[in-house]
Amino acid sequence: MSVPHQPPRIRAALPDDAEELSRLDRLTWSPLHAVTPPPQPQYRPFFDERHVPDDYLVAELDRRVVGYICLAFATPLASNAHVRQIQGLAVADEARGRGVGRALIRAAVEEARRRGARRLTLRVLGHNTPARKLYESEGFVVEGVLPEEFFVGGAYVDDVFMGRSV
Ligand SMILES: CC(C)(COP(=O)(O)OP(=O)(O)OC[C@H]1O[C@@H](n2cnc3c(N)ncnc32)[C@H](O)[C@@H]1OP(=O)(O)O)[C@@H](O)C(=O)NCCC(=O)NCCS
Repeated sequence: MSVPHQPPRIRAALPDDAEELSRLDRLTWSPLHAVTPPPQPQYRPFFDERHVPDDYLVAELDRRVVGYICLAFATPLASNAHVRQIQGLAVADEARGRGVGRALIRAAVEEARRRGARRLTLRVLGHNTPARKLYESEGFVVEGVLPEEFFVGGAYVDDVFMGRSV
């Protein structure tokens, strides 16, 4: 009989998570989701003035950071402040398929609600089937498509805009 997996613990990110998150980001880089080239040394700091710990939730399994989600304002405009956007989501290869991504999305929806948002949006590459399935199953719907917006992995790929109310 297989032993059921422990659910991940989701918590707010801390400045001390920077190194582990930077490592996770490098290890999970793939043309399935990244629109920038693979990170090269010297790596940029994970947190800076535009990416602050307050915008991130992290997932832990057995006290080890195995994933993160970034929940930011869609734009700096006051007229757009009711909309939050998922601007990053990654789960370590070895922790995938255990509900970590889903737990991060659910926590981000809850956090967006807590922060007073009405809507939560995101952008996902058209060929990123795992992420699209996850978003759809958590209530996000396709609201727009920019055809062939990116050239990644040797092919033109759509940029898919998704959203849901919170
Ligand atoms: C997308 C990602 C975050 C999913 O994380 P995960 O922890 O493996 O996801 P979960 O175990 O919570 O799976 C939740 C659902 O996602 C979908 N899913 C996950 N992996 C999948 C796969 N390989 N193929 C198809 N659907 C998949 C399924 O709907 C799954 O539900 P199910 O288990 O009931 O079938 C992870 O694959 C990842 O980090 N990918 C690289 C980064 C990325 O693409 N980020 C999104 C950028 S927009």
